[in-house]
Amino acid sequence: MATLGVLKEKVPGENRVAMVPEVLPSLVKYGLQVCVESGAGIHAGYFDEMYEDKGAKILPTAHEVLKNAHIVCLIHPPRKEDIAHFVENSILISLLYPLLNLDLVKELAAQKLTVFSLDLIPRISRAQSMDPLSSQSTVSGYKALIMAANTLPKFLPMLTTPAGTIPPCKVFVIGAGVAGLQAIATARRLGALVEAYDIRPIAKEQVESLGAKFVNLPITAQDVEDRSGYAKAQSEEFYSKQRQLIIEQCKKADIVITTALVPGVKAPKLIAKEAVEMMKPGSVIVDLAAEQGGNCELTVPGKTVVQNHVIIHGPLNIASTMAPQASLFYSKNIQSFLSLFFKENKLSIQWEDEIIQKTLVIREGKIVNEKVLNALNQQLS
Ligand code: NAI
Repeated sequence: MATLGVLKEKVPGENRVAMVPEVLPSLVKYGLQVCVESGAGIHAGYFDEMYEDKGAKILPTAHEVLKNAHIVCLIHPPRKEDIAHFVENSILISLLYPLLNLDLVKELAAQKLTVFSLDLIPRISRAQSMDPLSSQSTVSGYKALIMAANTLPKFLPMLTTPAGTIPPCKVFVIGAGVAGLQAIATARRLGALVEAYDIRPIAKEQVESLGAKFVNLPITAQDVEDRSGYAKAQSEEFYSKQRQLIIEQCKKADIVITTALVPGVKAPKLIAKEAVEMMKPGSVIVDLAAEQGGNCELTVPGKTVVQNHVIIHGPLNIASTMAPQASLFYSKNIQSFLSLFFKENKLSIQWEDEIIQKTLVIREGKIVNEKVLNALNQQLS
């Protein structure tokens, strides 16, 4: 019988856990047993007893878990000091961002592990239930709007009261992907007037289906979308025009939520200092692209700054602030991903499956991901 190991996340400020107790019963169908590092779920509100109630074994340390596990699931990559305790040929599933962590990839390969990185999941419908970037973006989009509403010294909905009528607040969302659409939906539920813009014209329909207005900027990007549906990087000249046009939208808005990302490169700067200076006093920007440097020129990743009476939040790991449900989503992503690992209750990985092939970074100690191999070769030359 194969064993899944669940470790406590050791990154400072991380409250989530990769597997929550309520998902454990659905792992039984794979014939998996589960061992959990004591305290792994505590910051997300999942105590050891809750795991035990669902049949898991609690072990006192990460090293004990690693000694027993055939498959280990984590959100962040393991710490250097834990890698040496992985059993040879065991399997690691986490968000590795291998191209940004080449030294770590080499260490994991030296330990003769098989490693899957969930940030590499292809953007295809069958993979959506396994995709933590998508599930965690849902959490961030919601929380970004709540954060903005909490900071804004105004009502969001229109109010008609004996003391007067208050107009609805105006929200402008830049980037209508998973997070942006969730921010739009949340703003609409709170009664705000919402406008949104995305470089991909296809986003218009989704924005409108949520009751928001799609903003058509009078510039058309060339070649906006790659084959997977991701936005493509544009020229600096294009971004400069975008920054100018976005000023008008920012001037009107009480809240700006910005989520524009382009895979593999720094986030485009779409809100210039000049735009912030023209915004109304007390208005709020939440820059969800802060992890990739931010969409606003004034964003300081991980900090809240105030410029000209405009509050700019640059939150990092916002999903961790909603740890119970963000962990539940992540666990369900893992459970769904594991469906590609088992056949008739036996560990039997479907090596030919597209999702397995795209997420596989190391197979039994051999680095197999082409992009990672290229990056390592470049490091050498
Ligand atoms: P994303 O997080 O990469 O980008 C956010 C949004 O920013 C996109 O809508 C993009 O078009 C927009 N953007 C980029 N540059 C811009 C610019 N200059 N101006 C305005 N907007 C700009 O993309 P998304 O769709 O939110 O995906 C988040 C995660 O969810 C990804 O990891 C993706 O793989 C996953 N996902 C998976 C799907 C699947 O079918 N498996 C479907 C949708 C998302």
